[in-house]
Amino acid sequence: MSNVSLSSSVCDKSSKVSIIGAGNVGKTVAQRVIEHNLANVCLLDIVEGLPQGIALDLMEARGLELHNRRIVGTNDYIDTENSDVVVITAGIARKPGMSREDLLQLNGKIVTQAVRECVKYSPNALYLIITNPLDVMTYLAWKTSGLPPYKMVGMAGVLDSARLQTFIAMSLGVAMDDVQTMVLGGHGDLMLPLPRYCTVRGIPITELMDEARIAKLVQRTRDGGAEIVKLLKTGSAYYAPASSACRMIESVLLNESRLLPAAVYLQGEYGLRDLFLGVPCRLGCGGVEQILELNLTEAELNALHQSSKLVKKNINLALEQLVNLT
Ligand code: APR
Repeated sequence: MSNVSLSSSVCDKSSKVSIIGAGNVGKTVAQRVIEHNLANVCLLDIVEGLPQGIALDLMEARGLELHNRRIVGTNDYIDTENSDVVVITAGIARKPGMSREDLLQLNGKIVTQAVRECVKYSPNALYLIITNPLDVMTYLAWKTSGLPPYKMVGMAGVLDSARLQTFIAMSLGVAMDDVQTMVLGGHGDLMLPLPRYCTVRGIPITELMDEARIAKLVQRTRDGGAEIVKLLKTGSAYYAPASSACRMIESVLLNESRLLPAAVYLQGEYGLRDLFLGVPCRLGCGGVEQILELNLTEAELNALHQSSKLVKKNINLALEQLVNLT
């Protein structure tokens, strides 16, 4: 008797997710997607044997994890054809002695090449960008792709919000899923956690904690990625990033239209235009279905604009470095 899936997923059995980059984030997204019974997966990497080995290993776990989703590992973009979602995690981590500008150029090249190839084979997919620096890479990916902006989204807000959710739940000693959080802005030092919009079962955290305690949790969220890098010593976070990506993929494939913070293309919302920045949006099978404009205070709006300035500066720098995008 063949294995029977334990999940009661309603998603189309033939859904396909391609993941470019079989490193820590890519392979963990792959594992989450198949084990959550969301889609079949194509895992691609530039290193020969790496995606094939990971795919085989994950296939051999199917009888134990009780799902029938397939995963193939490849070095050839043709295998990504007809994907519903393409996830870009390919890139290199910043190494000692390497400037942020160097990283922009290197990852910019990797991401734009990958997107160019994928779009040939999956012109109707939603593209989810994870490679850092996130907001800039999402912009470059979009520019290269020729796709409408609602088909391109960057994963950061879900992760940053999940980190803040964790710290609030730990600090108050409440259940994780009683806590809801909202973090806007660029993925980095200038991200904008919004305590006013963070609640425990609808109660704003501003009624449950004093300002100093909230400020500490906010700072820990800003430093969330760095805290893990420091502990790991080599490499960066991948479990929570992969879970965040999987939540977004789920919202698309199951057409849930979930309200999630993500890097989306702004065309006048919040007084900003022509950049990707983290704001709340609704994500469904059509891609980014709606961008929500929160009623920000003057200080919050200023902080968002500050965040956008840095992103814009880096976009311009990357565009200067990377001619021939289309
Ligand atoms: N094409 C395909 N794959 C590539 C390419 C390329 N041109 N260049 C690099 N890769 C692959 C590497 O071979 C490696 O397997 O991308 C993978 C990156 O994996 P890791 O180094 O393990 O990085 P990871 O921790 O997965 O992070 C990936 O996500 O969160 C971000 O900052 C993080 O930008 C980084 C990305």
